[in-house]
Amino acid sequence: MLTGAMLIARFDPRADADCLRACHQISLAAHDVDSAQHPPWSYRIFERAWVDGFGQDEVHECWLASGDTGDPVGCYLLMLPERENKTVAYCELMVTPARRRAGSGTALLAHCADRARAAARTRLRAFVLDDTAGTRFAKVMGASGGIEQVLRTMPVDASLPDRLAALRADAQPHASGYDMLSWALPSPSDHLAQLAGLHEVMADAPRDAGIEPTAWDADRITNMEQAIMATGAKYYTVVAQQVATGEFAAITQMAVDPQVPDWGAQQITAVRPEHRGHRLGLLVKIAMLDLLADHEPAVRHIVTGNAGENQHMIAINELLGYRITQTSRSWELDLTS
Ligand SMILES: CC(C)(COP(=O)(O)OP(=O)(O)OC[C@H]1O[C@@H](n2cnc3c(N)ncnc32)[C@H](O)[C@@H]1OP(=O)(O)O)[C@@H](O)C(=O)NCCC(=O)NCCS
Repeated sequence: MLTGAMLIARFDPRADADCLRACHQISLAAHDVDSAQHPPWSYRIFERAWVDGFGQDEVHECWLASGDTGDPVGCYLLMLPERENKTVAYCELMVTPARRRAGSGTALLAHCADRARAAARTRLRAFVLDDTAGTRFAKVMGASGGIEQVLRTMPVDASLPDRLAALRADAQPHASGYDMLSWALPSPSDHLAQLAGLHEVMADAPRDAGIEPTAWDADRITNMEQAIMATGAKYYTVVAQQVATGEFAAITQMAVDPQVPDWGAQQITAVRPEHRGHRLGLLVKIAMLDLLADHEPAVRHIVTGNAGENQHMIAINELLGYRITQTSRSWELDLTS
């Protein structure tokens, strides 16, 4: 499709590495402008996200916009979930910094909204960093912002082992009757059902109005793990197991991309409601930091994201030494008006 002097063309991210690399380059340039304090996604992580969202049940459309000399101007990924939130479309949309403020973002968004409507979606959502061009653009386009998500980072430095030892000594007496288990992907098959149960606990975390939580089962865990392993990322799990029942009470997971070995990326942390009050959220995180020191000694920083109103998780993160580095939120466009 031609929009002004711009050609917007769909490509298959599994088959067209040139187009996908062009989109990755745009994302790196955009990242430098908006979020230089955090590491960008390496190509293999970006590739997996654009191909299928790490094994999630969603249809993906990838579109690249080129100028009249064929140079990449912008792109978008449209994600159409097929299990939950079937009236919602999600997008990642960006314009390369050198080509901004010329109407390309507006044209790409109109194109993306048409594709979302064609897939019977009534809401188009995008995750946008606060205080960036994306926020100003989203407001002008008539979108409404959701709840604040806060990114925090913590340094992994020489003082950490002593701080962790003191925190553990304080917390451990509250957690008798639990053992810690840990492993790297793939998860043992006899743990999958319990892992799915722990992922379901994430439904308790604050989220935007009208958004359904993900429903997890063992197959979905397996699909996600296979997609993560295909990126070459290292992915570690720590679980607190109740000794008397064998039940998994709490979990935390951490990813390390070998292309960015000095950064850890915190994934989910959850404690089953009936096991709360035993400091298990803190203790699984401390066990994870010990595991990282042994298996990923190059890690110097860890990044985590929480809803701004998730007070219990934030209190744990602040104790560990995380400090705010950026805020963000999802923006939603009503496609029916
Ligand atoms: C957001 C983004 C896609 C906008 O691309 P763009 O090609 O510059 O967008 P447009 O030229 O169509 O801008 C349309 C209007 O949005 C507003 N806008 C866009 N960028 C702005 C900025 N930096 N400051 C203030 N207003 C801005 C303006 O009102 C602009 O109209 P104007 O230039 O006539 O004043 C681009 O900045 C980007 O890729 N950002 C990083 C990725 C991102 O945040 N994506 C979220 C998209 S929902």
